Amino acid sequence: MPKTHDVIVIGGGPAGYVAAIRCAQLGLAVACVDERVDARGEPSPGGVCLNVGCIPSKALLDSSEQFERLKHQFPSHGISVDNAAMDVGKMLARKEAIVGKLTGGISLLFKANAVESINGRAQLLRERTVAVTPPSGGGGKTRTLSADHIILAPGSAPIELPGIPFDHDRVADSTDALSFARVPARLGIVGAGVIGLELGSVWRRLGAEVVIVEALDEFLALADHQIAREAARQFKRQGLDIRLGATLQKADKTSDGLRLEYQQKGEAHTLEVERVIVAVGRRPATAGLLADDSGVALDAGGFIEVDDRCRTAADNVWAVGDAVRGPMLAHKGSEEGVAVAERIAGGAGHVDFNTVPWVIYTAPEIAWVGQTEKQLKAQGVPLRTGAFPFAATGRALAMEEPVGMVKMVAHAQTDRLLGVHMIGPHVSELIAECVLAMEYSAGAEDLARTIHAHPTLSEAVHEAALAVDKRAIHKAN
Ligand code: NAI
Repeated sequence: MPKTHDVIVIGGGPAGYVAAIRCAQLGLAVACVDERVDARGEPSPGGVCLNVGCIPSKALLDSSEQFERLKHQFPSHGISVDNAAMDVGKMLARKEAIVGKLTGGISLLFKANAVESINGRAQLLRERTVAVTPPSGGGGKTRTLSADHIILAPGSAPIELPGIPFDHDRVADSTDALSFARVPARLGIVGAGVIGLELGSVWRRLGAEVVIVEALDEFLALADHQIAREAARQFKRQGLDIRLGATLQKADKTSDGLRLEYQQKGEAHTLEVERVIVAVGRRPATAGLLADDSGVALDAGGFIEVDDRCRTAADNVWAVGDAVRGPMLAHKGSEEGVAVAERIAGGAGHVDFNTVPWVIYTAPEIAWVGQTEKQLKAQGVPLRTGAFPFAATGRALAMEEPVGMVKMVAHAQTDRLLGVHMIGPHVSELIAECVLAMEYSAGAEDLARTIHAHPTLSEAVHEAALAVDKRAIHKAN
């Protein structure tokens, strides 16, 4: 069939919509197909991230954090508020308004860039032909499109535990957990990963008793061990009950909730909760995406197989974001989308996986870039490390948030920064400086000789860099 577009992007999440906009900027005729609709049946681009992921969860994290501060931090500032109360309905409405603003913003960006936005479910057929079925109830006809290049960006969906299917009520997934109409008295969470910790924090701050069961013995195994240890200490102090080495076996409905059964150190335990959020990871959303003769290969886990340039097994079919290897992070997907658009337009796109920042939006926040001390030691890399506590910075004290630290890991001989790990106030923002430093192959000395404003939280980054060379000013070395 004759081509309808230069590029068709399947999926309108942060990987897909960014790829589509970048293609359009580069002069390509591009369509972006996404099936999501909002409660009114209107197209709602932006994928999981904008609709039911990063953005709404941050809205709730912010609301609940304000409430927590009101109760526990305001009094030490001399501010007292009687009868503070949280209106959950208003909080949820604020979250929905933010989501609406952002998804509407993507539609405007599509218009401004002349990206054709198509609402429907796409399937890739042979030779870069795409069948688009309108959303159910839409009543429209299936459309067939064809392009020189296809970018697959279908995203991911929550993993269901065998035998414990989501009923989207008592057994909730991460989407359901963004819309509980009232605060559960006792909330179980399966998985102490990123979602479990963020959503667990939201509902605990609003008054739920939260118990998290985590299969691994090690807490936050991905993070640096010192950061993870401090995080465990802080979360425990806040009242998050995290049970490690605990694997959920069963969830039976009771008259007013669920009885969870889990194994811990070979022993069976039970736990009565009102609801449970299952947050045990995400799987690629590739079911039904590819016709048998599309030429694209999936691996055993359903991920789209790609090379290091995001090329699939089929000619001029690319894949980006959560459905391909690498961390399931919005910004990783967006960068892959940009890189692929630039490659299609004849340029040289590049994504450096070693400088992808990680952020967990708990309080204190956790952020890192590069490798951990443990990973580097296992590779036999000679290291110097430097750490600096926020408690020793005037700004964190003034903010009443003297918690956590910045830890820097540098090569012992070349001084090149290999990893920076943080827990503390606003580290989601502070990490950007260190990502840039690593992107430019900086040494710890480069950060140590960079002037940081006083008094700011960024002084902890500066002092950690000085500490690598044992010359931090505001702590003993
Ligand atoms: P995760 O992979 O971060 O954590 C899942 C946890 O569940 C693991 O610690 C695992 O050991 C545990 N687990 C698995 N099966 C279990 C069982 N049967 N019983 C008890 N524990 C069990 O996955 P999560 O939190 O669901 O997040 C999914 C993805 O979304 C992640 O890849 C994450 O990167 C991404 N995400 C990122 C965010 C951010 O950047 N701030 C926010 C939310 C999600």
